[in-house]
Amino acid sequence: MSTIDYTDKIPNNVNLSEDRTLQRALEHWQPNYLNWWQDMGPDGSHGFDVYLRTATSTTPDGWAQFGHVKMPDYRWGIFLAQPEADRRIGFGDHRGEAAWQDVPGEHRANLRRIIVTQGDTEPASVEQQRHLGKTAPSQYDLRNLFQVNVEEGRHLWAMVYLLHKHFGRDGREEAEALLERRSGDQDNPRILGAFNEETPDWLAFYMFTYFTDRDGKFQLCALAESAFDPLSRTTRFMLTEEAHHMFVGESGVSRVIQRTCEVMKQTGLEDPAELRRHGVIDLPTIQRYLNFHYSVTIDLFGADQSSNAAIFYSSGLKGRYEEGKRADDHVLKGAHYKILDVRDGVLVEKEVPMLNALNEVLRDDYIRDSSAGVNRWNKVIEKAGLPFRLSVPHKAFNRHIGSFAGLRVSPDGRVIGEIEWQANVPQWLASEEDRAYVASLMGRVVEPGRYANWIAPPPIGINKQPVDFEYVRFN
Ligand SMILES: [Fe+2]
Ligand SMILES: [Fe+2]
Repeated sequence: MSTIDYTDKIPNNVNLSEDRTLQRALEHWQPNYLNWWQDMGPDGSHGFDVYLRTATSTTPDGWAQFGHVKMPDYRWGIFLAQPEADRRIGFGDHRGEAAWQDVPGEHRANLRRIIVTQGDTEPASVEQQRHLGKTAPSQYDLRNLFQVNVEEGRHLWAMVYLLHKHFGRDGREEAEALLERRSGDQDNPRILGAFNEETPDWLAFYMFTYFTDRDGKFQLCALAESAFDPLSRTTRFMLTEEAHHMFVGESGVSRVIQRTCEVMKQTGLEDPAELRRHGVIDLPTIQRYLNFHYSVTIDLFGADQSSNAAIFYSSGLKGRYEEGKRADDHVLKGAHYKILDVRDGVLVEKEVPMLNALNEVLRDDYIRDSSAGVNRWNKVIEKAGLPFRLSVPHKAFNRHIGSFAGLRVSPDGRVIGEIEWQANVPQWLASEEDRAYVASLMGRVVEPGRYANWIAPPPIGINKQPVDFEYVRFN
């Protein structure tokens, strides 16, 4: 069960060959997937040999293998985490009952929607990132981009497997539709807002993998609690891969900051315009990128009060982050939670039934986790002896979903009018000018061990390889 057979057409650890109908259906979907990858996957990458990790087993010790792989020949497969013997449902109305191996009829529509929504984000991010390979700041970074891309492709496989295996004809139709929507498309966009935004440059890419892949982590953690055991096992293994994506983001931003600080110290300059003449990204611009990606990402958690969230929890479909570590009854009937509301133009706390506030609970967990990394970035600035500090904006800032949608709120949490918003927005969110400047720095660096001027090299390479390792063979 634990080792994956790579002689199969579709590598898997789910005994696919024992279910001929399912195997045929997935083998039918496979060429459509490969066509999608050809069209929408990393632009111009198809001849490259890339030093990639591939999953070889789903046991925690040594689950992956590294080696050069020709990009389109990457073996996308279906891997579920090991089953837990006698797994019980951990929360909601069915708490204590045996976890489900099949989809109960009454939860079919909701589970399908949850799986499709998660599945849709995976190819979306590949589409958003597809041109970045042309401007990679180093081979090391190019390799990391491709690693993230192939694994997002695999995450799509993970969700498509569930749709094909457990949702019959509707599931197959949804699997096709996952290959048809396109990020940012006017007529047939991806389902969630943040996945229709552009990722036009590498600072945006690092911010995306830090903030938006971390949303993925929290959604996957909540789904890993699910009463529907195949969903739980699928997402648990996806989380193993996801950790690297967030590492790419956190270390990427950190290296940008480090390089900027080096130049600030060497030159004694602080003025952004002067620093830009030295070809680095000034810290206020990094803050504005952060404000954008953070606010767009926290919208992904949905409305602050949601009856769907309550239904998903009570029926056992989606739990909380680290459900098992919480010391409450895991049913939450009668429990309350404080959320923010707007009254007479001011933000005020109000208590609401916790079941309805579970999107907000997950968002708050996310906010704690993502803020911790911002503090680690500040350590880099502090170590350089510079006074500037980055921070996450107030959670009501630049929101488009929930009770703050349409409200103008400054990064420090004051409700303001349209005029004040318009006057300040160029200082708060990455402007056209910021983006044009960052775009002007993006140039392709391909020699092993060389790094673009605006980013510091990483302290160590991937899989303990040296930083000047030949991570990509361009052929
Ligand atoms: Fe993913
Ligand atoms: Fe990811």
